[in-house]
Amino acid sequence: MTSALLAPRTGNAPVVVGAANAVRLENIERGFPMPEGRREVLRGVDVELAAGEIVAVVGPSGCGKSTLLRLVGGLDAPTGGRISLDGTGVTDTDERTAIAFQEPRLLPWRTLAQNVELGLPRGTRRRDKRERVRELLHLVGLDHAADQHPREVSGGMAQRASLARALARNPGVLLLDEPFGALDALTRLRMQDLLLEIHAAEPTTVLLVTHDVEEALYLADRVLLLRSLVDEADTDATSVARTITVPGIRPRDRADRGLADLRADLLEGLGVNTHHRISTEETR
Ligand SMILES: Nc1ncnc2c1ncn2[C@@H]1O[C@H](COP(=O)(O)OP(=O)(O)O)[C@@H](O)[C@H]1O
Ligand SMILES: [Mg+2]
Repeated sequence: MTSALLAPRTGNAPVVVGAANAVRLENIERGFPMPEGRREVLRGVDVELAAGEIVAVVGPSGCGKSTLLRLVGGLDAPTGGRISLDGTGVTDTDERTAIAFQEPRLLPWRTLAQNVELGLPRGTRRRDKRERVRELLHLVGLDHAADQHPREVSGGMAQRASLARALARNPGVLLLDEPFGALDALTRLRMQDLLLEIHAAEPTTVLLVTHDVEEALYLADRVLLLRSLVDEADTDATSVARTITVPGIRPRDRADRGLADLRADLLEGLGVNTHHRISTEETR
């Protein structure tokens, strides 16, 4: 859909923009100095994402999901370990990653089209800008709303504009922090399908933080279950409690029995008792 462009990068070989990046996290650690002593939030995170893969991150509140995403986006730096995209370390102004949050964070005084335009790389020619913004608005189904302002549209539409803005620079890695968490259930399901359409149309690797286990299993190739190190007595425990490879190809059947079992497994990992095992035992 979009051709690969070569962008100059100081001190490194040219980086291909417009292709999905492989992500490598090597033994990542992030601790924060606190008045009562150092607080380890992430430890021993060793994960590789293949280019184009969708990986979901789930885990209890405060376990470091957003911190992990910020690290990959170069918005924060690890206190230990290394993060690289296609072998090159991430920088704080890395053009290869883009991030979107639970709140759309649009500028209220700008139209949706103008907000999307803000995501374009600096130096984009005017003609190309218009073309790309139109393409992005079409991709997220907002052709008709280009000239509306954020307050005039629904939460789902605002979130679609936010996604389009994140995609504007052809990110090799798309970082999503509970992107559909504030939307009603039905809109959320539609947005999940939209994300799959986007992923098919625009080559990008996706790291998706979600508190919705079903969403993780519907969208991801793999799910990382993080544990909260604060609640962990074992001081050598690493953050990734489990890595689950989701079977089947997308789009998945939301009613799949195998996924229901995985869902129960994941919820149990999150400390929720689903009574799933008991009921399946009983019906055998
Ligand atoms: N800059 C910071 N200084 C101190 N503590 C922080 C900082 N950023 C995050 N934390 C702490 O790290 C933990 C994980 O935060 P976060 O990654 O936002 O969790 P999650 O997204 O999984 O809910 C929290 O306890 C939070 O208070
Ligand atoms: Mg968070």
